[in-house]
Amino acid sequence: MKVLITGATGLVGSALTELLLQNGLKINYLTTNKNKIEHQPNYNGFYWSPESGVIDENCLIGVNTIIHLAGASIAKRWTSKYKQEIIESRVLSANLLFNALKNNPHQVKQVISASAIGIYPDSLKNYYSEDFKKFDNTFLSNVVVKWEESINQIERLNINVCILRIGLVLAKNGGALPEILKPIKLGLGSPFGSGKQVQSWIHIHDLANMFLYALQNNLQGTYNAVAPTPVTNYELNYSAAKILEKPFFMPNVPQFVMKLILGEMHTLLFESQNVSSKKIKEKGFVFQYKLIQSALNQLLYK
Ligand SMILES: NC(=O)c1ccc[n+]([C@@H]2O[C@H](COP(=O)([O-])OP(=O)(O)OC[C@H]3O[C@@H](n4cnc5c(N)ncnc54)[C@H](OP(=O)(O)O)[C@@H]3O)[C@@H](O)[C@H]2O)c1
Repeated sequence: MKVLITGATGLVGSALTELLLQNGLKINYLTTNKNKIEHQPNYNGFYWSPESGVIDENCLIGVNTIIHLAGASIAKRWTSKYKQEIIESRVLSANLLFNALKNNPHQVKQVISASAIGIYPDSLKNYYSEDFKKFDNTFLSNVVVKWEESINQIERLNINVCILRIGLVLAKNGGALPEILKPIKLGLGSPFGSGKQVQSWIHIHDLANMFLYALQNNLQGTYNAVAPTPVTNYELNYSAAKILEKPFFMPNVPQFVMKLILGEMHTLLFESQNVSSKKIKEKGFVFQYKLIQSALNQLLYK
């Protein structure tokens, strides 16, 4: 079985690539960076540029499933130019995949795409399942709605579409965790704002396994990709400080300070999304890391 991955060179893509190769799958991947193109027996890179509408269509040869992860990072300052890139890297890439599938012979039966829980409004009260539809008008929510619409058009080609709305990915060597740990390691750990905002997280190992599970079980539809027990921002920071045996008594970081430092992107640290994993569990997916303590123990100790 051969899988085409976009964004294979990123944080999630690298973990997923390793897992799929271990499971005997062959991988083609699309990259926007020609220097990242490699050719190995089961791992072959192809060039694309969603911005210019360019794709090496040979990437589709022999492929049964596409896993779409590509997108410009949201963890950079949101200037108006960069906001455009965040949206376009997702929408134009999905459109390019749609057109490549429409205009070329292929055997693709399923497309699995990353999405994000940023689609759900900031709330301390709501508990979000996948059927929630009252999205608000924030930048992130609009990005994700457009991202999902552009992916869902692929259903028109009689291909199964599965969308995983990913929460905060916890990994050892990338993403948010190393940044969260920086002040804690200096003994300066503290929650952001009230610390009551809920962070729906997922261990990278469980996320990679969830993509594999969606592939092996030909899942269709939208699933939240978050661990079964979201935590408050206080619990997340406190648990990390405790495992690292660091003090945790600094005053909470006020929102206006982070707004000055990060601009509009500061909302990522202060928004609350309590998200349910019930739907994917009912499909039979089993999480290895259900509690933040076990996830952090594994990531911080080994
Ligand atoms: N990490 C998280 O906590 C998290 C949470 C929710 C959702 N997600 C979503 O899950 C997906 C994977 O996340 P990740 O953390 O692995 O991201 P990542 O490390 O930033 O990797 C994303 C990949 O996308 C490609 N890319 C970057 N800019 C691009 C552009 N302008 N046009 C086309 N491709 C571009 C790059 O691959 P090449 O250089 O090879 O082209 C990059 O390796 C992303 O779409 C992300 O938004 C992540």
